[in-house]
Amino acid sequence: MARVAIYPGSFDPVTNGHLDIVKRGLKLFDKIIVTILYNPGKETLFSVEERLVMLRESMKSLPHIEIDRYDGLLVDYAAKRKAQAILRGMRAVSDFEYEFQMALMNRRLDREIQTVFLMTGLRWIFTSSSIIKEAASFGGQIKDLVPEVVYEKLKEKFSALSEGDG
Ligand code: PNS
Repeated sequence: MARVAIYPGSFDPVTNGHLDIVKRGLKLFDKIIVTILYNPGKETLFSVEERLVMLRESMKSLPHIEIDRYDGLLVDYAAKRKAQAILRGMRAVSDFEYEFQMALMNRRLDREIQTVFLMTGLRWIFTSSSIIKEAASFGGQIKDLVPEVVYEKLKEKFSALSEGDG
């Protein structure tokens, strides 16, 4: 049986840290479905469509990856796609409480699904979509932290970032 994982998130936007997790995950799973889900606790900068485009473009060279979106419970989506696992990245201790809570709630909702945590490479340990957006909004250089397509989109959103680009 193929080992399938869902890699869920807001991906607002996808970062090099996310790509790092997916590449590590591909060593464990036959297929990874990267899925944009709704996080009620977050207001997003990019529309779902924009986020899908950025995910597709930045992962186009990776094998055994599918990009999707779902408006509902993660465990329902995982069951629908016959996935055995939910893949999440873990950076620092600060991530732990939120991730722990979510993993246990998901397990309560569906005992068949396992959450697997992978550690990002040290290069990305301090990055997150939120901190990258904040830096970009003030014109801080974040080129090395995101895929090219995301950098271009961030420049469109934040003129301060474009001004510092040359
Ligand atoms: O990248 P994020 O914002 O930390 O990802 C969180 C996300 C989108 C995976 C989470 O909010 C989620 O699973 N949303 C869908 C609804 C759901 O199933 N919530 C978890 C159980 S209450």
